Amino acid sequence: MLHYEPKDLTVPEVHRLLLGGVAPRPIALVSTISKDGINNLSPFSFFNAFGANPPIVAFSPSRRGRDATLKDTYNNLVTTKECIIQAVTHSMVEQVSLASAEFPPDYDEFIKSGLTPINSDIVKPKRVKESPFQMECKVLEIKSFGEGGASANLAICQVLKFHVAEDLFTKGIIDPVKIDLVARMSGSFYSRAADGVFILEQPVGKKCIGYDQVPLHIRQSEIYSANDLGKFGNSEAIPNESEVNEFIKKIKEEKLEQFESGYDAFLRYQSLNDYSRMLKAALELSETQKINIQLSVKCALQNNDIDFAWKTALFVGMMK
Ligand SMILES: Cc1cc2nc3c(=O)[nH]c(=O)nc-3n(C[C@H](O)[C@H](O)[C@H](O)COP(=O)(O)O)c2cc1C
Repeated sequence: MLHYEPKDLTVPEVHRLLLGGVAPRPIALVSTISKDGINNLSPFSFFNAFGANPPIVAFSPSRRGRDATLKDTYNNLVTTKECIIQAVTHSMVEQVSLASAEFPPDYDEFIKSGLTPINSDIVKPKRVKESPFQMECKVLEIKSFGEGGASANLAICQVLKFHVAEDLFTKGIIDPVKIDLVARMSGSFYSRAADGVFILEQPVGKKCIGYDQVPLHIRQSEIYSANDLGKFGNSEAIPNESEVNEFIKKIKEEKLEQFESGYDAFLRYQSLNDYSRMLKAALELSETQKINIQLSVKCALQNNDIDFAWKTALFVGMMK
């Protein structure tokens, strides 16, 4: 590991560390209006949501790194105490990047970026039509930390109204693939969230046994990854010996119709992601049997068949 205290680094070095390690960051496309009625539009990735009752979001229009001057967004927030925060989708990312260019305060950044302004219901700043998720906000507080270049100005806002495109929803939740959000990472790197979406079962409301209760022979196996063990720890109970024996008996009674038995059969079932038949084939092999059985456990875990994985993994521990 490398170890740093911020006092020993330059501000750009600290900034680079934060950008790389606190990532991917959601991007707030913030629209404000000046006291003279000029629209401003800029992206901010020092941004997140912090509570739902009332809905609180915050972002930081920091002082400019170059000369520690305040950004137009900050000045507008101080004078008008209102903004719109919109989500940034992949289809608009180039225009959003354009909105981050430094135009003088009297330039309308809707015009410069080519994004379309539409009226809001409660606050004065305009919404961005192209974004499928828009929040009308009032500024509750701006907390400043320091006066040097790149110092934070945390604008804490309450959401007064959400505007969300109807077609984003699947079964009542915003579908990550449909919304197609982008996020900011280090340097010029961005992430297209939909490309990396996966499902993780949540332990909310469950009485999980925890990692430490996973039997030692499973924890010490070289086949299972830390994530595999985490999945076991996420379970509420461990099957008992007779449940394991019953399960294995049933697997042994099954017939392998599709392919012949032996290692080739095991490999064919593995390529088909068929962990039940992988186990059946592995049970018929004498050499490297344990490893192959454990590979069927891994395959079951990948398919979220935790009951199968438990019984099979426990069976390995019962083998001579
Ligand atoms: C994706 C992205 C994220 C950004 N995040 C921030 C941020 O969190 N804080 C910040 O001060 N500037 C951030 N910037 C830079 C501002 O958008 C830029 O300084 C902009 O010119 C500010 O405009 P304004 O002076 O009109 O407010 C970001 C730029 C991009 C492209």
